[in-house]
Amino acid sequence: MSLQYQNILIERKENVGIIYLNRPRVLNALNRNTVDEIMNAMKDFNNDENVRVIIITSNGDNFSAGADIKEMSQLSSIDAEEKSPLANWDIAINSVKKPVIAAIKGYTLGGGLELALSCDIIIASEDAKLGQPEINIGLMPGGGGTQRLTRLLGKHKAMELILTGKMIDAKEAEKLGIVNKVVSKEKLLDEAIELAKEIAKKAPLAVKYVKEAILFTLESNLQEGLRYERKLFYLLLGSEDGKEGMRAFIEKREPKYKGK
Ligand code: HXC
Repeated sequence: MSLQYQNILIERKENVGIIYLNRPRVLNALNRNTVDEIMNAMKDFNNDENVRVIIITSNGDNFSAGADIKEMSQLSSIDAEEKSPLANWDIAINSVKKPVIAAIKGYTLGGGLELALSCDIIIASEDAKLGQPEINIGLMPGGGGTQRLTRLLGKHKAMELILTGKMIDAKEAEKLGIVNKVVSKEKLLDEAIELAKEIAKKAPLAVKYVKEAILFTLESNLQEGLRYERKLFYLLLGSEDGKEGMRAFIEKREPKYKGK
């Protein structure tokens, strides 16, 4: 574990970079400094050729109870817009080219849930409690909750969750399609690492373009999305790794990828 940050820890396990939120005393509330540190760690992992997949999880029993209300209560609207990185965090995560897996547990609320929703895959422990409780303190989601939950769940369910601020448990979140998988708390990190390692074995360019194509569909119509996917497919087809993958299949051996 690296101690270069105050509010997060980072670790590398083979080709997997792991970020742990580390303010357990305040349920990993996301203050400005923590968000800056997450962004910096993401950027470092994104630029590190040896890191193929990133996991974001936490120390302690909870993923995150959301934005730091004590800090946020001191901000004017203009300060928040101009100085606070909170509203921009998901743009920063979206610009990470590698898959990001969120491994969530305990309270995963408000900005904490929005952080998880901006990741590419979510694994939850059985005790995870998810919600957008901002309405209970006179606010609303500001880190993508109204947009991402509506795309995931449709209008009616998103309205219910965000307007009531109620929490749902991990099983319900799985049923609704918010989380990919529910596992026991003890196995949470191991499962996330296992999945990350499985993805890390694939051709890096193919992984990058799959992420790019899937994210593109959320911002475009079907025709544009299909055209974009086809272009990325042709690029991969001509790449060294694409050729190597197909050759390995024909020669009945494991492929050796170079990320080219
Ligand atoms: C700052 C927080 C916090 C938060 C908990 N704490 N959540 N501090 N910001 N979001 C602190 C508490 O003040 C307390 O510190 C300690 O963590 C333990 O919390 P308790 O409330 O004592 O724990 P418990 O009774 O178990 O209740 C857990 C809880 C509750 C239900 C999760 O803490 C809660 O409702 N928290 C707020 C959740 C929330 O509204 N999140 C949305 C935030 S707005 P002390 O020092 O008092 O012991 C948001 C907007 C995002 O996220 C916008 C993005 C741009």
